[in-house]
Amino acid sequence: MGTPLTLTVAEGVAFMNLIDGKPADALSGARIDVASPSDGKVFASIPASGAADVDLAVKSAYKAFHEGPWSRMPAVERGRCVTRLFHLVEKHGEELAALESRDTGKPARQGKADVTATMRYYEFYGGAADKIHGDTIPFLDGYTALTLREPHGVVAGIIPWNYPMQILARVAGAALAMGNTLVVKPAEDASLTTIRIAQLALEAGVPEGVFNVVTGYGRDAGAALSAHPLVDYVTFTGSPLTGTAIQQAAAINNRGVTMELGGKSPQIVFADADLDAALPVLVNAIIQNGGQTCSAGSRVLVEKPVYERVAAELAARFSKLVAGPHDADLDLGPLINEKQRDRVAGMVAAAKEAGVSVLAEGSVHADAPRGGYYQAPVLFGSVDPQAVIAQEEVFGPVLALFPFEGEEEAVRLANSTEFGLVASVWSKDGARQHRVAKRVRAGQVFVNGYGAGGGIELPFGGFKKSGHGREKGFEALYDMSATKTVVFNHQ
Ligand code: NAI
Ligand code: MG
Repeated sequence: MGTPLTLTVAEGVAFMNLIDGKPADALSGARIDVASPSDGKVFASIPASGAADVDLAVKSAYKAFHEGPWSRMPAVERGRCVTRLFHLVEKHGEELAALESRDTGKPARQGKADVTATMRYYEFYGGAADKIHGDTIPFLDGYTALTLREPHGVVAGIIPWNYPMQILARVAGAALAMGNTLVVKPAEDASLTTIRIAQLALEAGVPEGVFNVVTGYGRDAGAALSAHPLVDYVTFTGSPLTGTAIQQAAAINNRGVTMELGGKSPQIVFADADLDAALPVLVNAIIQNGGQTCSAGSRVLVEKPVYERVAAELAARFSKLVAGPHDADLDLGPLINEKQRDRVAGMVAAAKEAGVSVLAEGSVHADAPRGGYYQAPVLFGSVDPQAVIAQEEVFGPVLALFPFEGEEEAVRLANSTEFGLVASVWSKDGARQHRVAKRVRAGQVFVNGYGAGGGIELPFGGFKKSGHGREKGFEALYDMSATKTVVFNHQ
């Protein structure tokens, strides 16, 4: 099964929270076992923090914001700290890739790709810190009016398990560049790289208390963090249901939120498309990270004249896909945990039972450890647009194909779910590219390409149930700050 990774993660490490620049266990002493999704075996543990731990972390971030040097530091100095973090991530890249890969089960090369993207976030936001500024506004005679971009204060980041290091980087990069302080609650299934990155941030010169990490379950640590009265802004990536709970909790204190809540993203393939270019991208957009990608291209809409050909070629590719342990670096790894594997397997079984036609299935490698959470890829064809598999996020290696006739139907189908995160248009017709890109309701539209999670420079976020607010790119700096208007009367 390929060459195993040479780097292994030390066994039995008891990872700690990072509060006020110091490692800290949960006050209760409770711990959560960390298992590798590849074999289900425990290899480390993290604190099972509760409300009291969150309170300490938030108070540390609050003090660091109001009393510490961070928010008053010249922007260029803050940017240099973030840039040093970029260099430290590069220096520790192999260790971080191995840790991420073992913790989440993602193939080794995806762990490495995640390190590359993480580096780019800190590089981009380190450089951007001193390039964002306010305006002067023409106002009444005898007055000068101007705006300042000010940090919110304490930002709470609740991070999911699919791309923990990358999603942390897009949150922390933008939040730190703007002068906020942070309390991060990583997912209970994938907290290890968050702890390491926060330690590296200290080494990079980010002052104590600016970047705190509290691990634990969502219902305990996550709920306490989103409802904490000293938190000024909450940013979350994960499921719509949890997003609603977090918004309700933040609403108690009337705090702002950014919500990135996944999708059911369509790729629209017109008959004139360059199919040779499209086919590998269509496969990768759903197989990358085992389909556990908010922006996974989970629906492929194909114009009727080429539907049979695309279906047959995708089927040929799907039947060759193999899932296996992270260190074997196959097409895909295991899913994150037993619950997610059972959920995906249940949705596949229900679709089969409902009569949705299976065009192809991949396989799980014969040598994959029995205790791992594997799911073979599945390609469904001629799916009813109202079917569960057409409407709900599966978050697994499951692709649904739909035939369509003409541009109108393509747009209608593309917009026929409650989500609106990413879409793509495959066509050589320039006018059509523009028309369809405008009419599809999605936060990002790719033409003759697809970026499942890529492009740290590109603003990213949802319409409809996919959420609100924008991350990535320069625009995230606006989400991570507020406008203050200052008016001088000098009559
Ligand atoms: P989740 O949305 O519940 O978990 C994400 C994060 O939220 C974790 O850090 C978790 O500890 C935290 N959390 C959970 N409940 C919370 C609460 N009440 N208050 C504050 N924080 C809380 O996702 P889950 O249950 O692990 O996965 C279920 C589904 O969510 C997946 O099948 C997938 O469809 C979707 N999902 C989407 C992601 C995306 O990138 N858009 C990422 C992860 C999951
Ligand atoms: Mg894990």
